Amino acid sequence: MVVIKIKTFKPEETYRLGEKLAVLLQAGDVVCLSGTLGAGKTLLTQGIAAGLKIREAVTSPTFTIMNVYDAPVRLYHFDLYRLEQPGELADIGFDEYTNVHSDGVAIIEWPDRFDGYMPEENFWITISLGEQSGERVISLAANGGNYERRIERLKDIANSCD
Ligand SMILES: Nc1ncnc2c1ncn2[C@@H]1O[C@H](COP(=O)(O)OP(=O)(O)O)[C@@H](O)[C@H]1O
Ligand SMILES: [Mg+2]
Repeated sequence: MVVIKIKTFKPEETYRLGEKLAVLLQAGDVVCLSGTLGAGKTLLTQGIAAGLKIREAVTSPTFTIMNVYDAPVRLYHFDLYRLEQPGELADIGFDEYTNVHSDGVAIIEWPDRFDGYMPEENFWITISLGEQSGERVISLAANGGNYERRIERLKDIANSCD
């Protein structure tokens, strides 16, 4: 596992990090987004969506469980907060969207609710609140060789100030 840690101090920085992360993503990827309510999971997803050239407004799928956005690479955006049992994952076709042959990128908010059901290889991002208001500590872990190779590149692009 390779882990990198990045701090942001305002919403725009988290959004921009999402845009940069999107450059590394490809169909079949799984991005797990963990962190408390209001941490910035949906905002980071909006940045990723912008980076994937999705023009539609990306909103929280808390009540719909999954939203799909069409783009050259599709985005499947999940929020498992309201899911009660792991069996419901099968009902929504979770495996189909999160396997390596999927035609899109899957982003999953609240993955820790069903930890053992997440694909083993993934980017696992944890957003924590920092000491100052507006500060977020974002830890990005690459699980699996395919992801590890790519996250090394994020180290370089995340710190560049374009
Ligand atoms: N550095 C930051 N990164 C992300 N969000 C931030 C930051 N500072 C403040 N915020 C605010 O925190 C909230 C995050 O909301 P949201 O992305 O919906 O959280 P979640 O999906 O994790 O519940 C937004 O209101 C955003 O403006
Ligand atoms: Mg959210």
